[in-house]
Amino acid sequence: MVEIEKLQEKLGEALGLEMAAQKAVEELGSKGLLDKNGMLVQLQKMQSQAGNHQSKLEETVRNLADVSEELDSSKIQQVAQETAQKCSSMMQTYLGQDPDSSEAIEFLCLAEGGEVTHYEVLAAISKKLNGKIKNNRKLSTTVNSILREEKRHLALCIKLAKQTATK
Ligand SMILES: [Fe+2]
Repeated sequence: MVEIEKLQEKLGEALGLEMAAQKAVEELGSKGLLDKNGMLVQLQKMQSQAGNHQSKLEETVRNLADVSEELDSSKIQQVAQETAQKCSSMMQTYLGQDPDSSEAIEFLCLAEGGEVTHYEVLAAISKKLNGKIKNNRKLSTTVNSILREEKRHLALCIKLAKQTATK
């Protein structure tokens, strides 16, 4: 089934983006690039929510793999690792040699925008799979609840990017 392959790929990418988002806050914070306007505290909260999303996604993958022989959880892990790696090199390219706070928070806007997009796509795939695979209802609920939080992450990053540029 084509949708199962798409689902695997998108679950892997979403998982990789969650891992990369946590690492990005860690790295940018340790470089002192998130110190302006009390950004760091708010972003650390976002980082811990990303950790929760990662755990929820991993649990969802286990639940799906338990009941579906078609779903390959090692493939999902592999895609996740590749995605996290790609995101990390994108960050290095984006920041360049001498990044400032604006570039740092604007990169997080890009990352959160990517997450929102991936969860929108996952929600659409999950809707299409309704009734075709077991445990799909749980997948839909999880994806939609993460999507709502990702939209808040993106809104937060946009707000902080505007503050950083104007204060
Ligand atoms: Fe996020």
